[in-house]
Amino acid sequence: MFPKGVNSPVRYYPPYPMFIGRGKGALIWDVDGKSYQDFLLAYGPLILGHSPERVVERIMETVQRGTVFGAPTELEVKFGELLTRSANLDKVRLVNSGTEATMHSIRLALHHTGRRKVLKVRGGYHGTHPFNFDSDLVESIEFNSQDALRDKLSTREYACFIIEPVMGNIGVIPPRDDFLENVREITERTGTLLIFDEVITGYRTGFYPYYRHLKLEPDLATFAKIIGGGLPLAAYGGKEDIMKEVRPSGSFPQAGTFSGNPVSVAAGLETLEILSKKDYSHLERLTDVARRGLSESGLPVNSQTGMLSIFFTDGSVERASDALRSRKDLYFKLFEKALDAGIFLAPSYDETIFISFEHAEKDVKEAFELLGEEARKIWKGT
Ligand SMILES: Cc1ncc(COP(=O)(O)O)c(C=O)c1O
Repeated sequence: MFPKGVNSPVRYYPPYPMFIGRGKGALIWDVDGKSYQDFLLAYGPLILGHSPERVVERIMETVQRGTVFGAPTELEVKFGELLTRSANLDKVRLVNSGTEATMHSIRLALHHTGRRKVLKVRGGYHGTHPFNFDSDLVESIEFNSQDALRDKLSTREYACFIIEPVMGNIGVIPPRDDFLENVREITERTGTLLIFDEVITGYRTGFYPYYRHLKLEPDLATFAKIIGGGLPLAAYGGKEDIMKEVRPSGSFPQAGTFSGNPVSVAAGLETLEILSKKDYSHLERLTDVARRGLSESGLPVNSQTGMLSIFFTDGSVERASDALRSRKDLYFKLFEKALDAGIFLAPSYDETIFISFEHAEKDVKEAFELLGEEARKIWKGT
């Protein structure tokens, strides 16, 4: 029916993935009724856990008034105001997925600059569209490598450089000191638009995109996952002089039947309103507890608030070439041990482990101490 039985490749693992019955807070239950601490959290959106009451209520209220109109709604405006203000952007366009947001922001960069090429980061993932894969027109450099960036951009043939400020699709890799500041300086000097892909990082480390935490301004930025409050919603946006080119104010073609869908916007708005009052230092503390547990393994562990990774390799992991040395087979053994113990992680080593505000500190401690111990045994057994 579906290729390998799934509707997104990361969901598959052998012999076949478990089927989920329901989720509430930090827990999910499989269809047989077994519960799991959920540290996959749908690959990132569920920073408030599953089915937060206020978000569910807002969705229910909204859905009763209609699901899609093909015309603007008030909620859309409220959501747009909150997003632009907190992200410090002049204008945004709402779309349905991170794939759309990054694809259209890259298309817009090509349109705006009249240049033909795109630069990205090796191991960076921005969705399944042609700009995500190396080709004649799309090239990659390593993360944390400003010299490589300077060399490439000196040719002034790249319309944009797209980068996750913290890598999250090759395992978590935080930026080295000053790397992103240098990225901003080099892109600006060479007339290359800087696109921060905040699909994972937006509103995760604080009530802002990661670039605001560093006091940087991108030319364009993309959001999805958390901003949709568990429903499909995404956005790209940026400075006025670029965004004004989007139709109908300009000639850049981009449209969508479900863009700014009222139900998604309701879930996203309620989620952002809740997050605007959250104390993110709590999430930071939970992440620290998890990191300490995993570090018991003796293996490299990278983390940022609410997200972390363990790598089955020696040495530190600062770029894709380091992460790619991680032993996939050993990570999968850890995943299987975790499932047995009632802990749900991403099945693949290169995806992020997420933590939500709903996780209790004692559960995080218990789960990650167990994972650290299991990882140590697995690594020692090799
Ligand atoms: C950084 C980043 N950008 C873009 C995307 C694509 O988003 P979506 O799956 O909503 O299309 C992802 C998805 O995981 C992502 O992690």
